[in-house]
Amino acid sequence: MRERIVIGNWKMNPPTIADAVELARNVANRMPGGVSVGVAPAAIALPAVADALRDANVDVYAQDVHWEERGAFTGQISVSMLRGLAVGTIVGHSEVRRDLGDTDERVAKKLARAVTAGLRPVLCVGESAAEHAAGNASIVVARQIMAAVKEAPRRGLERLVVAYEPIWAIGTGNPATGIWATTLTRAIRAALKQSGLDPEATPVLYGGSVSARSVGEFASAEGIDGALVGGASLDTEEFAAVVRAFA
Ligand code: 13P
Repeated sequence: MRERIVIGNWKMNPPTIADAVELARNVANRMPGGVSVGVAPAAIALPAVADALRDANVDVYAQDVHWEERGAFTGQISVSMLRGLAVGTIVGHSEVRRDLGDTDERVAKKLARAVTAGLRPVLCVGESAAEHAAGNASIVVARQIMAAVKEAPRRGLERLVVAYEPIWAIGTGNPATGIWATTLTRAIRAALKQSGLDPEATPVLYGGSVSARSVGEFASAEGIDGALVGGASLDTEEFAAVVRAFA
C-alpha cells in the first residue's frame, strides 16, 4: 500500500512567526498516526517552526525553492538554506506559477535542484477553469508532469509526491469530486509511466478546498493517497479531521 500523506500548505499565513509556531505546536499535539503529516510554513517562519517540531511526528516542507544553488536572485531561497529545516519542498504551485511567473521549464529546474539536494518534491499540477471547461484537463496535467520530471535524476524521483490541484477548486469552497480526482490521477499516473517512473509507487494527493466536510469524498476515491490542504490547514481541528480521514 502506498504511503498516505497530508500536508498543510500555510501559504502567506498565519500573520506572524509566533502564530506559525503556535499552530505548529497545536498540529503536533493533535495528529493521529497512520498518515505522514507535513506542514509548509512561509520561508521566514521555517527555522522557528522546524525548531518547534524538532521532536514531533510532523514533517516540515518549504513552499518553494529556487533552481540555482546560490547567487544574485533577490528574494529567493536556495536548497542549502533549507538544510536541517525542511524534508522537502512544494514545486510548481499554481499560485507561484501565477504570481511569480513559474513555467513548466522553471518547475523542471526547481524539481531537479530539490531532488539533487535530497529534498522530497511535492509537484503541483492542475488545470485552469478555462482548460477544464474546454475538456483539456488530462492533457494539461500530463504535459505538466512530463515537463517537470524530465531534468531530474531518476533516483531522487523515487520519493516524488504529486499533488493534483485544479486551479478552479483552490480557495473557492468548491472542491472537485472524488470521481473527477480519480480520473485525473489516472492521467497523472499514465504520464509518470510515460516518463519512465513507477506510477504505482508515487503518492498522488488531491488539493483544492479540502475541508473536514469535503475530505471523505477524496479519502475514499481510488488512486488518491492524501491531501494538500490550504485554508483548512490553518485550523488545527479542521486539519486533524482531514488527516483522520486518510488514517
Ligand atoms: P485551499 O485548500 O485553500 O483550496 O488551497 C489548496 C492549495 O492550494 C494547497 O496547496
